[in-house]
Amino acid sequence: MNSSALIRNIRAFSLPSRQAKLPQFYFVLFLLYLRILKGNRMNRFLVTGGAGFIGSNICKRLVSEGCFVRVVDNLLTGKKSNLSSIIDKIEFIEGDLYDPSVARSAVKGIDAVLHQAALPSVPKSVDNPAATHKHCVDVTFAVLLASRDAGVKRLVYAGSSSAYGDTPTLPKVETMLPQPLSPYAAAKLTGEYYCTVFYKVFGLETISLRYFNVFGPQQDPTSQYAAAIPAFVTSILKDKPPTIYGDGEQSRDFTYVDNVVEANLLAARAKKTSGEVVNIACGESITVNRVIGAINNLTGKNVKPIYAPNRPGDVKHSLADITAARKLIGFRPKVSFEDGLRLSIDWYRKNLL
Ligand SMILES: NC(=O)c1ccc[n+]([C@@H]2O[C@H](COP(=O)([O-])OP(=O)(O)OC[C@H]3O[C@@H](n4cnc5c(N)ncnc54)[C@H](O)[C@@H]3O)[C@@H](O)[C@H]2O)c1
Repeated sequence: MNSSALIRNIRAFSLPSRQAKLPQFYFVLFLLYLRILKGNRMNRFLVTGGAGFIGSNICKRLVSEGCFVRVVDNLLTGKKSNLSSIIDKIEFIEGDLYDPSVARSAVKGIDAVLHQAALPSVPKSVDNPAATHKHCVDVTFAVLLASRDAGVKRLVYAGSSSAYGDTPTLPKVETMLPQPLSPYAAAKLTGEYYCTVFYKVFGLETISLRYFNVFGPQQDPTSQYAAAIPAFVTSILKDKPPTIYGDGEQSRDFTYVDNVVEANLLAARAKKTSGEVVNIACGESITVNRVIGAINNLTGKNVKPIYAPNRPGDVKHSLADITAARKLIGFRPKVSFEDGLRLSIDWYRKNLL
């Protein structure tokens, strides 16, 4: 039913036979309600970097909710196989978002962009800062510009806790002055600034989610740059000693990926966003030595780690204050560190051994 038919029906209700038309009137009101709901809801999503670890987890959740999902990924670090269970239900475009024409076609007809694409590694950025700048800063700029021009309603940006650097103050609050220590941290922070400016100057609704050490299914344990938890879990499952850089007393706010997925959806569906930056984490400090102990416990093993020198750009402690995310988008972590670790170990057992 189009809008003028809806209005005709509402007018018709003011004629004498009101009672006879009561059910019809409520039906029309119901249709109107559905139409308003549909207008406000974000249903058509672009997930940039959707073939990566976090992106593919987001896509699965969106598909399970019946949303339209488009993925654009150049498979630099992501794998199409991460999306194999939903590949028939999404639109997958293999392309490099550095190219403005790819970015423009990526955002066509999209309500909300969940921008995950990046080259996400501190050590990689020390080895090759130009590549990090390209895939983090230039790509974010291209996606923002295309989103602004296409009238996208909301852009949610994957920020990083690395922005805080090694300042001793804990927990990290968004109002603290950023102190990036690596090209990766600087590049991710630049993306946040651009998101805020695109809201202030062009009115594009953006929000940056500063993720703290995300882990979970589909995180790649194989590369030399692998994140800590997947590398530790797969080593211990194979009875090989995991390598810890430093003394193992460094701590992180390890965050199971479902919590990050939830934060993205809350941010996309929040009533309004205005270029804010919020921490996304569990708000719990866990040392690397404790992670090794927990993996040994959950797997019934007792594999001792090897300790190697610290790597440049690594920070000593990281812990988030998540009050702002709760207030702004209603975020509360649903999966604890221990539960997340158990789910991850199950996944690595089934998929990688
Ligand atoms: N994993 C974490 O702990 C963590 C922590 C903080 C922030 N982040 C951020 O979250 C996002 C996702 O990280 P992830 O861990 O899933 O990494 P990932 O490497 O698994 O995913 C990144 C994806 O982006 C794609 N990509 C890179 N450059 C691209 C380009 N030019 N065009 C199109 N696609 C491109 C890659 O192929 C990959 O699929 C990143 O922005 C990262 O900076 C991650």
